[in-house]
Amino acid sequence: MTFRDPLNIVVLVSGTGTLLQSLIDHQGSAYRIVRVVADKDCPALERAGRAGIEALTVPLEGDRDSWNVRLADTVEAAAPDYVVSAGFMKILGAPFLDRFGARTVNTHPALLPSFPGAHAVRDALAYGVKVTGSTVHFVDAGVDTGPIIAQKPVEVVDGEDEAELHERIKKVERRLIVSVLEGFHRAGASPD
Ligand code: GRF
Repeated sequence: MTFRDPLNIVVLVSGTGTLLQSLIDHQGSAYRIVRVVADKDCPALERAGRAGIEALTVPLEGDRDSWNVRLADTVEAAAPDYVVSAGFMKILGAPFLDRFGARTVNTHPALLPSFPGAHAVRDALAYGVKVTGSTVHFVDAGVDTGPIIAQKPVEVVDGEDEAELHERIKKVERRLIVSVLEGFHRAGASPD
């Protein structure tokens, strides 16, 4: 597979978009963001707009398979080398993954395989772990189960709440996802 230089990236978002902001701020010789796609109206779209990046919304309407096809069509139209799920809060299904699974990466706020799912920070605190962290992995059909690319630990501070711990993890995530893309670029990486 041949990749563009810099890599062309589509970013999937659902929320505040601070990870997207880090990706925007670190664009350069390694990668550039060619489109941002959300499943709903969210502040991340405004960040894309401020950066002059095309931003589109594909709301989950109708059945899930047809939404996955519409999402994949919207991504494919931007012809990305890689897709980054950066705070995208929907599970990607087979119609999307058949086309992009081998080159879609997700960032998750825990050290997988511990604490998959939408409440990773809350679950880690509830379990009482002393170390959690951030994982960047390829997306497969499971929930946060795909092959791990990179991880960084974050120590849990006694007495901190979910929001405080999540913010400290997100500081790590913001650097880790950028370094993974820079690594893909350096390696001329092929997901094959
Ligand atoms: C990150 O912790 C990401 O791993 C999780 O949602 C958060 C997104 O934060 N899935 P933001 O919207 O980029 O600020």
